Amino acid sequence: MQNAAIVTLLSALAGPLLIAHSVCAAPAGAARVAVFGHVDKDTVEIYTLSNAHGIEARIMTYGASIVSLKTPDRDGHLQNIVLGFDTLDPYLAGVPYYGATVGRYANRIAQARFALDGATYSLVANDGPNSLHGGPRGFDKRVWKADATASRNSLKLTYVSAAGEEGYPGQLTAHVTYRLLEDDSLIIEYEATTTAPTPVNLTNHAYFNLSGDPTRSILEHKLTINADRFTPVDATLIPTGELRAVAGTPFDFRNEAVIGARIDADDAQLKVGRGYDHNWVLNAAQGNVLRFAALLADPVSGRVLEVRTTQPGLQFYSGNFMNGKQAGAGSVYGYRTGLCLETQHFPDSPNQPAFPSTILRPGETYVQKTVLHFRPLKAPAN
Ligand code: BGC
Repeated sequence: MQNAAIVTLLSALAGPLLIAHSVCAAPAGAARVAVFGHVDKDTVEIYTLSNAHGIEARIMTYGASIVSLKTPDRDGHLQNIVLGFDTLDPYLAGVPYYGATVGRYANRIAQARFALDGATYSLVANDGPNSLHGGPRGFDKRVWKADATASRNSLKLTYVSAAGEEGYPGQLTAHVTYRLLEDDSLIIEYEATTTAPTPVNLTNHAYFNLSGDPTRSILEHKLTINADRFTPVDATLIPTGELRAVAGTPFDFRNEAVIGARIDADDAQLKVGRGYDHNWVLNAAQGNVLRFAALLADPVSGRVLEVRTTQPGLQFYSGNFMNGKQAGAGSVYGYRTGLCLETQHFPDSPNQPAFPSTILRPGETYVQKTVLHFRPLKAPAN
């Protein structure tokens, strides 16, 4: 029987089923797709990328967000290592940035304003006096358009942010491409162009818990950060402008350290952050070159995550504001049960001329890349 005839026969037998199937159909070889929910008239799709080792990333078009990411522990047991939700509702109810692509400007802009080419732009303050993560309706709360035709391992998402949206100048066309490779890495590539000069800073806000058990805190995870300096902050978490040496402080992760070991130390910076919520100045961050940023290891599950990036900074956020109560999601995800490693430009760069520039101009293309590599911890030598 011809394919067309089979389809006709099947649709006669199972009309509604096939209608649902046609929404979910993906070209041969492309990533699997299903409907995850709706936002007004927009359908939110969820795509599944997988590789031959069973690593599986589920990414939805709302916020171009990583919903789940399964990787093997040291015994090959697959578990989800990012915090997320099974339905769209908690995301729509406003859980904070779980797995999301954050923009137009990730992290904070002081006093929710900046000057550019002689004009002053006002943003909406949504974090005390500051703008956080693109404003009240940043890129994490938009439905992106997906193109998964390339292969079963890659997904390109596009969002066109109108000129003036959330106060930012210029129409910005942003792309995020996720690629899951057979070498067990998830590549996240960002690209953007604009019709007028604008600040741009895109990142991913996955909360990692490598144990695969989101009731366990992340304090036993071990972390290495390739940075000699960090950017200390004021009481509202805006950088003071200083690039401070990490040597001799609880911010020194140049050698692997247990996250919980110094998090409650008597340190003024840890007090303002209520733990770690700071930007590290990555070493050798000259130009757009991919280099080692961080290594996270969980001794219990034996999972290791290595982060490489082209970005100059890394925000390590130790889940200090998590409290087990998430809007619309019931009691889940307690204090410090997830941590973020947000590769980014430095916070408040539009107001800090000494920081690497985040201004994108018409004719230029913003390009950044972050690589997450998953591997088992080597068993200790006997
Ligand atoms: C920020 C935190 C904030 C969190 C919200 C992080 O990127 O640095 O201060 O509370 O995002 O999830």
